[in-house]
Amino acid sequence: MSESPWVRGPYTPVEKEVEAFDLEVEGSIPPELNGMLARIGPNPIGEVPPDHNLFFGDGMMHALTLKDGRAQTYRNRWVRTEPVSQKLGEKSPVQAINGTDVANTNIFPFAGSLYALTETCIPYRVSEDLETVGRDDFSGFIDSGFTAHPHVDPSSGDLHAIGYDINSEASVTHYVLGADGTPKRKARIALNGPGLIHDFAATENFIIIFDLPLLYDEQAAKQGSQAAYKWTHGYEARVGLRRLDAEDASVRWFEAPKGFVFHALNAWEERDERGSVIKVHCDVCRFEKMFDEVRSGPGEGTVPQLYRWTMNFVTGETSEELIDPRIQDFPRIDERYWGRAHRFSVTTELFSSAGESGIVAYYGDQGSQEWSFGQGVDTSEAIFVPHNDKAGEGEGYLLATACNYKNGRAKAAIFDAQEVKKGPLAEIMLPQRIAATFHGSWIPQL
Ligand SMILES: [Fe+2]
Repeated sequence: MSESPWVRGPYTPVEKEVEAFDLEVEGSIPPELNGMLARIGPNPIGEVPPDHNLFFGDGMMHALTLKDGRAQTYRNRWVRTEPVSQKLGEKSPVQAINGTDVANTNIFPFAGSLYALTETCIPYRVSEDLETVGRDDFSGFIDSGFTAHPHVDPSSGDLHAIGYDINSEASVTHYVLGADGTPKRKARIALNGPGLIHDFAATENFIIIFDLPLLYDEQAAKQGSQAAYKWTHGYEARVGLRRLDAEDASVRWFEAPKGFVFHALNAWEERDERGSVIKVHCDVCRFEKMFDEVRSGPGEGTVPQLYRWTMNFVTGETSEELIDPRIQDFPRIDERYWGRAHRFSVTTELFSSAGESGIVAYYGDQGSQEWSFGQGVDTSEAIFVPHNDKAGEGEGYLLATACNYKNGRAKAAIFDAQEVKKGPLAEIMLPQRIAATFHGSWIPQL
């Protein structure tokens, strides 16, 4: 039995790829929800070493299709990276690059295709049936690790990404692709150190880069550590604002509050009466630190909480405000408001004072509502799906999975996004337990 905590409890891998049809449903699935809920997370094959790192587990995809009020299909598949194919005794559709290929962090639709993403590698294209097609570097445009968190600018349809290499290079690359997948531009931006940069935020005019004290550790890498990043005391934490349309590498840097951020919720601009930007606000889920003593996964007793960072263009200073002390991460919004002042957002409460997990939805000055799935349950990130293109902000559904790792029962839950406290409109019973996933997407029926 492995001693790693990352293959136990909610992280216990499943061993089978299955398919199921016409799943059991409690409640009613809204018939307008036609499409696929896709999720992905680490699900290592076979034994792992005691120092196994959560973030390097073989990626497993899950897909639940909904049609006309029915839960039509569920299937799960590993992404066929070269190491996965080898372990499964199959011929690999790709060859590993530098031993860093792992696609386990996000599954994301873009330009008519579906991609399995991790920041350390080139995107993997997968089919709607979750078969691995192969790596896709967009005709050579992507020449570093990409990102697990690309974002689409709602006004232009452009896809933005901040990519970096898992090596000692102190830089990131800002990639911009058009909505049809055509590469538009990219710029390499120098940092003070080779940081792990998982996500980014943006406003209507600026992209926001988190240059925080989690740095590549060459010594650990040479010793064969999977977790070759460490918390670097004394490193100057910074937030960089770069114009979305910049052709050069210019960035305005602000001091960042102390701590580490995997995920940003959203960012927006505040303007004076003449229309000039005077402040940029950015909501983040922030830990106190990351990978200081414990480097196999998020730990060390620090927990993510929701903060607002404000970068003041007049004074050049940054301030921070705690928005909610609940332990929460995996923030999502109505994506049509990415980079704009929003009212609606949702996070996953990882561990309440009662030891429960669930989701928390925020409604601007109308406060928040929460729903708990109880103790011993892993609740996934919740994904917002609007009723239709014309629906107001937050008018639609929230989709999440909840896996009880005590009894092995897993389900997908659908909420009215405006009535989270009433509980799910429908719960769909999945045919087998799923290991805790990182991220996912809703892919409307094409
Ligand atoms: Fe993430």
